[in-house]
Amino acid sequence: MNTPSLNALLRRMPKAELHLHIEGSLEPELIFKLAARNGVELPYASVEALRAAYAFTDLQSFLDIYYAGASVLLTEQDFFDLAWAYFERAAADNVVHAEIFFDPQTHTERGVPIEAVILGLDHACRRAHAEFGISSALILCFLRHLSEDAALQTLEQALPWRRHFIGVGLDSSERGHPPEKFARVFARCRELGLHLVAHAGEEGPAAYIESALDVLKVERIDHGVRCTEDAALVQRLARERVPLTVCPLSNVKLRVVERLADHNLPALLDAGLCVTINSDDPAYFGGYVVQNFLETFAALPQLGAAQARQLAANSFEASFVPAEHKARWRRELDAVAERLGA
Ligand code: ADE
Ligand code: ZN
Repeated sequence: MNTPSLNALLRRMPKAELHLHIEGSLEPELIFKLAARNGVELPYASVEALRAAYAFTDLQSFLDIYYAGASVLLTEQDFFDLAWAYFERAAADNVVHAEIFFDPQTHTERGVPIEAVILGLDHACRRAHAEFGISSALILCFLRHLSEDAALQTLEQALPWRRHFIGVGLDSSERGHPPEKFARVFARCRELGLHLVAHAGEEGPAAYIESALDVLKVERIDHGVRCTEDAALVQRLARERVPLTVCPLSNVKLRVVERLADHNLPALLDAGLCVTINSDDPAYFGGYVVQNFLETFAALPQLGAAQARQLAANSFEASFVPAEHKARWRRELDAVAERLGA
C-alpha cells in the first residue's frame, strides 16, 4: 500500500483509545482561557511561552508541568469543557470508543470537590455519545507518588459516584513507587467489581509489570514497553493476551526511547502481544491518536496496512465493553479497510 493510502487507512479506520489522561489533553489555549475565567495567575506570559516550556527530560519533568497546568481546573463546567475539547478531537480521529483516565487527587488536594470532577467529565461523555456516537467510560487513577492511605481515602470519596466510572488505574512517578505499594487499595477495588489497570514498565523496570499482574491483578498494562528486557515476561504477555496500551509520541518526548525509529512496537506485534496505540497526554506530546499512528508508521517502514488493522482490532479486543460492541466495531473496521483497498 502506498503512503497516502496507508495514511488514509490510519485516519479513517475506527479505533478505541484506551490510554488518555484527560488532564493531559488540556491545550495551552484552554489553560489560558480557564485561568482568565477563574482568576488563576499563571507563571507564563503567553500560550507560546507556556508551549516553549514543554521540553521534557524524563517523566518527572513532564509531571511537574502537567500538574501546574491542571491548576486552572476548578469547576464542573471546566471539567466538561476539558473533556468536550478532547471528544471533538477524538471524533475527527475516528475514535469510536474512549476509556479516559482522570486524576482526582490532583484536584481534591486543591480543594476541588470530587463530584465537580466526575460530573463534569461524565456530562461530556454523555454528550459525546449523543452528538458523535462515541462511547466512553472513565477510569479513576491513583497517584503513585502519594500514599496508599491517600488512595484509599480517594476511593471512599469517589464511591457515591461509583456508577460513573468503570475502573481504577495507577499513574504518576513510577520509579521508586512499585505496584506492591497499592496492593490493599487494588484488592478493595477488585471486590467492588471495578476494572483494574496500571502504568508499569514505562520508566520503571519489567519487574513492575509482573507485580502489577501478580499483586494488583490488573487486566491491562499501560505502556509496558520495558517488557522486552525480560523474554519470559514477553512470552507470558503474549500467552495471556495481556493488552499493552502503548503511547509512541509520549515515549519519545519523555525519553523512554530516543527516536520513534527505535521503538519496539513492531517487535511487540511480532511477538504476538495485544498492543494498542494511544496518545497519553496529547496536548503535551505533540498529537492525538491519529498523529501517533501517522508518525509511528512513517518512522517504522516495517509497519503497513496489516499492522494498522491489527492495532485497531487490538484496541477493541482490549476495551472493557460487551462482546457485541467489539464485534460491531470489527465489522466496521473491515468495511473501512475493504473500501480503502487495505
Ligand atoms: N500521568 C499522565 N501521564 C503519565 C505518564 N505518561 N506516566 C505516568 N503518569 C502519567
Ligand atoms: Zn499515561
